[in-house]
Amino acid sequence: MTRSASPLLPLGQTILDQAAALARFSDMEGGLTCAYLTPAHRAAQAQLAAWMEAAGMQVRIDAIGNVIGRYAADPAVGDGARVLMTGSHFDTVRNGGRYDGRLGILLPVAVVGALNAAGIRLPYHFEVVGFAEEEGLRFKTSFLASSVLAGRFDPALLDRADADGVTLREALAASGLPGAGGVDALRAAAVDPASLHGFVEVHIEQGPVLLHHGLPLGVVTQIAGSSRFQVRVEGLASHAGTTPMTLRKDAAAAAAEMVLLVEQRCGQVPTLVGTVGQLQVPNGSSNVIPAECVFSMDIRAGEDSIREAAIADIVAGIQAIAERRGLGAAIERVTPVNNAPCARWLMDQFGAVLKKRGLDAFELPSGAGHDAMMMQRMTDVAMLFVRCGNGGISHNPLETITTDDAQLAAEVFVDFLRHFQPRA
Ligand code: GLV
Ligand code: MN
Ligand code: MN
Repeated sequence: MTRSASPLLPLGQTILDQAAALARFSDMEGGLTCAYLTPAHRAAQAQLAAWMEAAGMQVRIDAIGNVIGRYAADPAVGDGARVLMTGSHFDTVRNGGRYDGRLGILLPVAVVGALNAAGIRLPYHFEVVGFAEEEGLRFKTSFLASSVLAGRFDPALLDRADADGVTLREALAASGLPGAGGVDALRAAAVDPASLHGFVEVHIEQGPVLLHHGLPLGVVTQIAGSSRFQVRVEGLASHAGTTPMTLRKDAAAAAAEMVLLVEQRCGQVPTLVGTVGQLQVPNGSSNVIPAECVFSMDIRAGEDSIREAAIADIVAGIQAIAERRGLGAAIERVTPVNNAPCARWLMDQFGAVLKKRGLDAFELPSGAGHDAMMMQRMTDVAMLFVRCGNGGISHNPLETITTDDAQLAAEVFVDFLRHFQPRA
């Protein structure tokens, strides 16, 4: 591996320090939770805006809360300059890691700061987006922020309520964000695809592949499609001590069978995965047979047809379990997002930079969802993955990267930006 001394760097330590500083804005004590539009989320948003400004960018905050910093093109390019966009999300899962999403904001902002300090301008506008919401934690609305930017915002989402009954409409109206949640403002925040060269995203891999191959970086080929559901099983509450086992309509026992069905069906195909990450017996008591059980289902696969076939089988299987047990089951599809292929011409430019440094231009698919998926609906996208430590664990406080890998990723990103060639 050739580690050329760059005049712009080191940035690796800055990136890790800023990720640690940003992680202090949290909805919980002793861990990192940053849900959409909470006080911690607003503080993180303000911090990102401040860092972007300090790096030499003009900053705007849009109607959904995205923080967008622009490093203006070299004035010699004139008015016709288009935008190369990058970015990732700054919201987190509950008790998540500090690099998921945030690395893809902090790294390019640090790179811009270094370019600016060295007096280097680019022949295009370079924009870094801190996407306000990707994880779906508060309103079960994943990709909310990128859907607004990509012109795909669904106004029906405004009626979604959080766990306290606050709707997205109410949260936006109280937020002080431009447009106060009005549909027109949310629609107007969309970017004109004709103004873009494309969208690239740096992200921690969130898995063990690069770690196992002994590689610091990888180029993503495609992002697996995903479908999320909310399942409500309706049984009958009755006395835990007097109701014979044969006469029960136990919603939790039925849900347990359904969870095992998800595990069994998704275990049949290597690229297919299925997860029940939330499972509740609302208003349950230890001495009452559960009348209701609610659970989430997240089903993903590299190929849409594999995912859809699994969903069809699982939905039919859930109905069959409910029927056999004499219960009801209502299945609501929350967010379907199709597989998003990365653009070969952008992947090759990352590959060329890696090879020039004596690194493997290793390619791998992404099983995790990313803002690039939604951006791919409007423009060409590519992703650079950075090796994840601790066995590749993510969506967990143990998620980590090394300073060296952050440094190398920043150097590769600088090379990519400086050699970037628009699509012919
Ligand atoms: C986002 O982190 C997802 O893949 O769920
Ligand atoms: Mn995530
Ligand atoms: Mn992420």
